[in-house]
Amino acid sequence: MTNIRQAKWLEPLIFNLGASQRRGCQFTCDDPKLRQLSEELDAWFPKTLRRENPPALPELSEVEVVRHFTRLSQLNFSVDSGFYPLGSCTMKYNPKINEVLANNPSVKWLHPHQDESTVQGALELMYNLAQWLNEITGMNQFSLVPSAGAHGEYTGTLIIRAYHESRGELEQRQEILVPDTAHGTNYTSAAMAGFKVVVVPSTSRGCVDSDALRQVVSEKTAGLMLTNPNTLGLFEENILEISQIIHDAGGLLYYDGANLNAILGQARPGDMGFDIVHVNLHKTFSTPHGGGGPGAGPVGVVESLQEFLPVPIVERADNGYRLNYDVSHTVGHIGGFYGNFAVLVRAYAYILSMGAEGLLKVSELSVLNANYLARQLSAIKGFSVPYGHDRIVKHEFVVSCQQLHEETGVSAKHVAKRLLDFGIHAPTMYFPPVIKEALMIEPTETESIETLNSFISAFRQISTEAYTTPNLVLEAPHSTARSLLDEVKASHPRTLCLSWRAMNT
Ligand SMILES: Cc1ncc(COP(=O)(O)O)c(C=O)c1O
Repeated sequence: MTNIRQAKWLEPLIFNLGASQRRGCQFTCDDPKLRQLSEELDAWFPKTLRRENPPALPELSEVEVVRHFTRLSQLNFSVDSGFYPLGSCTMKYNPKINEVLANNPSVKWLHPHQDESTVQGALELMYNLAQWLNEITGMNQFSLVPSAGAHGEYTGTLIIRAYHESRGELEQRQEILVPDTAHGTNYTSAAMAGFKVVVVPSTSRGCVDSDALRQVVSEKTAGLMLTNPNTLGLFEENILEISQIIHDAGGLLYYDGANLNAILGQARPGDMGFDIVHVNLHKTFSTPHGGGGPGAGPVGVVESLQEFLPVPIVERADNGYRLNYDVSHTVGHIGGFYGNFAVLVRAYAYILSMGAEGLLKVSELSVLNANYLARQLSAIKGFSVPYGHDRIVKHEFVVSCQQLHEETGVSAKHVAKRLLDFGIHAPTMYFPPVIKEALMIEPTETESIETLNSFISAFRQISTEAYTTPNLVLEAPHSTARSLLDEVKASHPRTLCLSWRAMNT
């Protein structure tokens, strides 16, 4: 087991480092043309918009900058430093070669205003990526523009809106159905697109209750949003029946493809009856993510919905590729330019390097790893896997710490914090709410048997500690840069200090 002791620096803010007039590098401009341009700009720039004084930027030497950011990086945790089993977030290792490619000057210096004729390679990459996503998901056409899963969902619900509007049924169809195990963004996206959200309960087996679904579905139904496998890691047992119920009522099926890792090459949303799909490229297809970005959530649709996709769509032209802005019933522009191109490059490189067989292995191994952990953890005193002890889970599963909590006072939150002392990132906590004292665990395919075994050992040790020396767990973490935080204080808006200026006053 890794015996970690995280770096502990009392690192000041960069504004409190350095000294006046200190420089990391000097920019000089000897080009007379540039100097003239600068003088012209100076003369042109409205006086009312000018600052009296230059901005108070930090002034540091190069070595001070390097040391500051290196020290900060050592206070951080990442998938490159340890196991990151954050359920529903697919924190798998992202091959470094994809970073190299995304950083290639011919990629990173492209400008979105360049003429189409000068970016044919980029368009070809986007076209091929969209074709591969069609093949992987069973859809007909993709828009690569949305820049996150939630953004894809919002785009998808706008498409549902536009579809019903085009049939003159929007006024009547105002309800989107969402299961009670759904990710929070599903409810939010549907509400933001102007729909009323109707929650569908799950059965005692953790899947959508088809009888309850039949009761809530009606001529008011615009569609159903579903992630499959769901956030309990379970594949919907009656997916074809569910799809039939929604289609019979005139609704559309939306597939939240954040969990695609589990079904890559095994099953396709299109074959399950879904009409619209978003894919979290940053999770399944290799972009380091977390902390808010970067991401890409391309949206794919079946043939009958192609006319509603956002613009532009990358298409083949007579002598290359082109951007099509002329889509008959498009929901319009939903983001800047053509999407988060560097994420698309990583996804393209990842799919190309893995090949069809490699992608199949991803799903096999991610499911195998999740099942190995589920079985092993459910055998440890105080823990159980309520949905999954009696069947195969998919890419993730949820451990309940309810028994441990009742018998020792150690809750899911305490277990999560104690795991940090073992160099392991905390799992997703208290989600989904259908499980008490929940820890949602997604090991992914990139972890070795040794890593999985040391995770199991950490759980065993935490269980023993909870029953013998509970304070050790209750007061964790002990070896991280910051020890146990005062959570009330940390989340109280009046004590939060969100800017350098506020800190100095
Ligand atoms: C099931 C599910 N749907 C949607 C999302 C939203 O994706 P994003 O964070 O890219 O907006 C997530 C993200 O964790 C998710 O797990």
